[in-house]
Amino acid sequence: MPDYLSDHVHLSDDGTAVVILDQTCLPNRTIYRTLRTAKEMFDAIHTLQVRGAPAIGICAAYDLYVLAQQISARSAEDFLRQLQGQADDLCASRPTAVNLSWALARMMQTAAAHDTVPEMLSALHRECLAIHREDIAMCRAIAEHGLSLIRDGDGILTHCNAGPLATSRYGTALGPLFLGHERGMHFHVYADETRPLLQGARLTSYELSRSGIDVTLICDNMASLVMKNGWIQACFVGCDRVAANGDTANKIGTSGVAILAAHYRIPFYVLGPTSTIDLSCSTGADIPIELRDPSEIKEKFYTEPMALPEVKCYNPAFDVTDHSLISGIVTEYGICRAPYTESLRAVFEKKRAAQSLSDEGRK
Ligand code: MRU
Repeated sequence: MPDYLSDHVHLSDDGTAVVILDQTCLPNRTIYRTLRTAKEMFDAIHTLQVRGAPAIGICAAYDLYVLAQQISARSAEDFLRQLQGQADDLCASRPTAVNLSWALARMMQTAAAHDTVPEMLSALHRECLAIHREDIAMCRAIAEHGLSLIRDGDGILTHCNAGPLATSRYGTALGPLFLGHERGMHFHVYADETRPLLQGARLTSYELSRSGIDVTLICDNMASLVMKNGWIQACFVGCDRVAANGDTANKIGTSGVAILAAHYRIPFYVLGPTSTIDLSCSTGADIPIELRDPSEIKEKFYTEPMALPEVKCYNPAFDVTDHSLISGIVTEYGICRAPYTESLRAVFEKKRAAQSLSDEGRK
């Protein structure tokens, strides 16, 4: 089985811990960590051992189930109150990817729909597995829709990492490339290294190259040149939160790629599951942007500091790409086009209809 079809976040065999592939050690070391405490879980997300919006959501759902088993409660209400406290703490680990709060809210609603603690625990168990299973299916569907946008031999530019490590199985932005590769197609992928945390270098080029897909690593400031050379036929990126009007938060630098793509008339696509669309944010201005430690710019990955200690740093982890620069948003229900306010709403209607059909089927 190729690497990208295995799970990098899952429950331990006995269900009392969460096992993750530590992404901070890649590409040089493959280290799995077992998370049992709330602190280990918070740190795993905050330090990017687990990262990528969907993977964060899946991990948080498993985390909450594991923590739920550790609660000693006097009553069902007391259990729910303590569980909410754990969910709130986990939710504070990273603010931008909406999948985190989405998965935790879904787990809390599941627990609240039951009367006794044993019932809540088994419902939580089923729900975290369902969140993971659904993400696998969403990524597969996104891969299929995304593949319809490109042709054999195309050059694709991607930013950050929206592959299997960031999701489950196929990934989002990289999904069409893995799927096309399985079908014998060839792509030339240009991966932005993605300063300052180098997800493109450490993770995207690793995943693609291990799977035999042609990948060329470039520094972020080379994207303009490869576009000008005519080597890029489409840009595929992931997303951390999509607002109702299509404005999209993704890894810092994404909006610059979109501006360059518009200049060179290259289509720029955002690929992501509906769990990353947040209709409660009307525009990108409502999306909270995570600010991270200056040491990530000045020191991390260097043998000695690259700036004086007193030099100020601004280190936003994400930026928002204006919807006017986006050629399409690829979801598991199909490709949304402008005006996004309408097409994104329509996607949620499709989703509701599909869910009520499957609820009917289960009755
Ligand atoms: O800070 P990170 O590495 O979690 O940022 C990840 C991204 O920006 C991804 O593009 C996004 O989460 C989509 S993952 C399918």
